[in-house]
Amino acid sequence: METKEQLAKLGLFDAKVPRYTSYPTAPHFAQGVDSSHFTDWIGAIAPGSEISLYLHVPFCRRLCWFCACRTQGTQSDKPVLAYLETLKAELAMLGNLLPEGVRLSRLHWGGGTPTLLPAGMMRDLAGAIADVAPFSRSYEFSVEIDPNEVDEDRLAALAAAGMNRASVGVQDFNEEIQQSIGRIQGYEVTRDAIEAIRGHGVHSLNADILYGLPHQTRERITESVQKLLSLNPDRVALYGYAHVPWMAKRQQLIPSDSLPTPQERLELFETARKLFLWDNYAEIGIDHFAAQSDGLTVAQKAGKLRRNFQGYTDDPAEVLIGLGASSISRFPQGYAQNAPATGAYTGRIREGMFATSRGHIFSDEDKLRGRMIEALMCDFRIDTAELVERFAIPAAQVVEMFEAAARQFPDVLDITPERLFIPPEARALTRMIARSFDAYEMSASGHSSAI
Ligand SMILES: C[S@@+](CC[C@H](N)C(=O)[O-])C[C@H]1O[C@@H](n2cnc3c(N)ncnc32)[C@H](O)[C@@H]1O
Ligand code: SF4
Repeated sequence: METKEQLAKLGLFDAKVPRYTSYPTAPHFAQGVDSSHFTDWIGAIAPGSEISLYLHVPFCRRLCWFCACRTQGTQSDKPVLAYLETLKAELAMLGNLLPEGVRLSRLHWGGGTPTLLPAGMMRDLAGAIADVAPFSRSYEFSVEIDPNEVDEDRLAALAAAGMNRASVGVQDFNEEIQQSIGRIQGYEVTRDAIEAIRGHGVHSLNADILYGLPHQTRERITESVQKLLSLNPDRVALYGYAHVPWMAKRQQLIPSDSLPTPQERLELFETARKLFLWDNYAEIGIDHFAAQSDGLTVAQKAGKLRRNFQGYTDDPAEVLIGLGASSISRFPQGYAQNAPATGAYTGRIREGMFATSRGHIFSDEDKLRGRMIEALMCDFRIDTAELVERFAIPAAQVVEMFEAAARQFPDVLDITPERLFIPPEARALTRMIARSFDAYEMSASGHSSAI
């Protein structure tokens, strides 16, 4: 392992860096992309191809203090129903444009809390999606589930609609930590939700937990990970808690002095990581762990792991369409993001127009750099031959870029003319190394701690 002093010297404990779920990252999207681009790009999808669909539900019954997601609290179903009608209208507009024979390889309902939809609304939404495109043969339909906000009826509706992967938010099991992040969720609540999910025949289960939370210690994260392991998740996302109170105002309820230092964050991550590895989980990229039989592990072994807005994926589709307020679509031509505010999004759809408000059109250089960053985030290596073949560029150009990165990270990168490799002991630096391939100026604000 690189010593803490070496990592400190390279800036790991001070840097703010993106998580690179896209390239360029969303803060660099601009207004030059609008609904005409979105429409053209949908029209260019090959008939009969497989695409992915993401649906965003920006509502929650509870508003957890730690949460940096864009969501609004509501106890009433009225705004949810109005939003659902808008989503269905957007789906119908999409259905009118999609070329013949398109199928869904992936469908994801995210949020917010999609499970706050009553069962009837879930059936309605699933029906509207089925009218637009059927699932492909090896489809995956996943839903983000708040264990506090789900019941038998809703799980039955989701299972009947084809849900075959559930993603459960855990964060941490320790009570003091739960109180300090404004998210109370007893172990039994999580356990019972998982049992109910499996009882409905949904056998792929993801769980999200966080390191770097207030009052989190190595002992506490050990206990939380052990409790999580007793529930046998197929996939775990171990995210670093992003404390960005200037963006997520609720986080102002979490005093900065209750947070672990960056050095302690690294120890917390390492502690949790070792427990997953001891339990025979495969390490996937920078922050995921997956059972040996899980699709992510299989994709990683086959060199087919990809990175998208949901983190890591084994989805081979070239097109991901995001519907709902703030959702981002990815096409071979570029990114298109819907208006972030629910009101603005709803207004546009009601006028019969798509709600694209900004995005980015890829240049050839974006595609090259984007692939280099994705390869680092997924495989910790970049292969010269792959880039030469895919982008028809001279190997010397790639090697020059490797050397420029090596100058920024002396004695860290393992470089030959054939490849750049981040050795295991330097992987904490992966996002910083990825940033050295990012041609856009990165402002510190809006990004989270490098560890
Ligand atoms: C959009 S939330 C939806 C989860 C669902 N509503 C629930 O509460 O279980 C998905 C995940 O984002 C992660 N997340 C939210 N805020 C975060 C933050 N500030 N830093 C890191 N991860 C965060 C959490 O792990 C959460 O489970
Ligand atoms: S963690 Fe889930 S329930 Fe809590 S505010 Fe965020 S999206 Fe809503």
